[in-house]
Amino acid sequence: MKIEGSVAIITGAASGMGKTLAEKLVSLGGKVLIADRDVSQGSALAEALNKEIGSNVAVFHETDVTKWKTLEAAFEKAKDAFGKINIVVNNAGITESSSWFNDNDAGEESCEYMTLNINLVAVAKGTRLALKYFAQNPQVGEGVVISTSSLYGLYNSGIVPLYAAAKAGVVSLVRSHSLARKETNTRHVALCPWFIDTPLLEGTFREALTASSIPVIPQEPVIDAFIQAIEDDTLNGAVLTVFPGGTEIIRENIYSGNADQLKMVRAMETSIIEHQYALAKEARKL
Ligand SMILES: NC(=O)c1ccc[n+]([C@@H]2O[C@H](COP(=O)([O-])OP(=O)(O)OC[C@H]3O[C@@H](n4cnc5c(N)ncnc54)[C@H](O)[C@@H]3O)[C@@H](O)[C@H]2O)c1
Repeated sequence: MKIEGSVAIITGAASGMGKTLAEKLVSLGGKVLIADRDVSQGSALAEALNKEIGSNVAVFHETDVTKWKTLEAAFEKAKDAFGKINIVVNNAGITESSSWFNDNDAGEESCEYMTLNINLVAVAKGTRLALKYFAQNPQVGEGVVISTSSLYGLYNSGIVPLYAAAKAGVVSLVRSHSLARKETNTRHVALCPWFIDTPLLEGTFREALTASSIPVIPQEPVIDAFIQAIEDDTLNGAVLTVFPGGTEIIRENIYSGNADQLKMVRAMETSIIEHQYALAKEARKL
């Protein structure tokens, strides 16, 4: 997909990687809707980008990604402001406090389970809203959904188990949705970065990394990976890992090494997708 002339919704774009990606897309001729719960940083970014370019290239929408209605309103706002949406980046995320004990589990809004809500359930919601939009607007052409996972999407963690479960769920969502590319007119890619220099690491986690001499990598290679995910139409169901050693693409969405099982599951999936899609089309008169 060409970035010039495209429109992207980026969640969590008021800070860190989402913010840098928004700046990059605008510099390449794209337009962005910044969807974030941080009103002051999000609106300041939109204002700065519009001033820099001298036209309306960025819009902020106060969004809590866990709330379907505010997320849906972000899609409406992007459509109203720019006439279309081509790219959806599910990127908002939080860390787990890495406490193994249930000190704040009872507080619904602040409890550890918000790690699953923001990092996984909201990615599912953003993806389903994207599928709905692309199905209703075939004139826009194929859409792309990029979801930010983590190194913990591929490797387990004794430090942040809920975060790891959420990020592994993101990889599974991306790989699963990618199997219906033809039917949904949507491509899906996941990014799995190592520790990146963003505000997310502030506090104890960054100290722990520094104390153990564990490298933190700059944002640039991750932003390059986002750009690759948008531009390379062959990437679907792919996972881009961005580690200190460089970026790699995992194209095959397999978990086990058993080739017979894989063949059996793929054949079963293909026939059921075709069958179900035909029924859905008929029911919705698509
Ligand atoms: N920094 C890292 O080391 C690292 C590594 C791998 C993956 N990631 C992932 O990258 C993504 C971006 O993180 P970052 O490092 O740029 O962090 P960041 O803290 O700089 O940015 C995260 C943004 O998400 C927003 N956000 C959080 N909860 C939200 C909600 N409910 N609704 C709307 N917005 C919300 C925050 O306001 C913030 O602007 C996250 O999904 C994170 O898990 C980060």
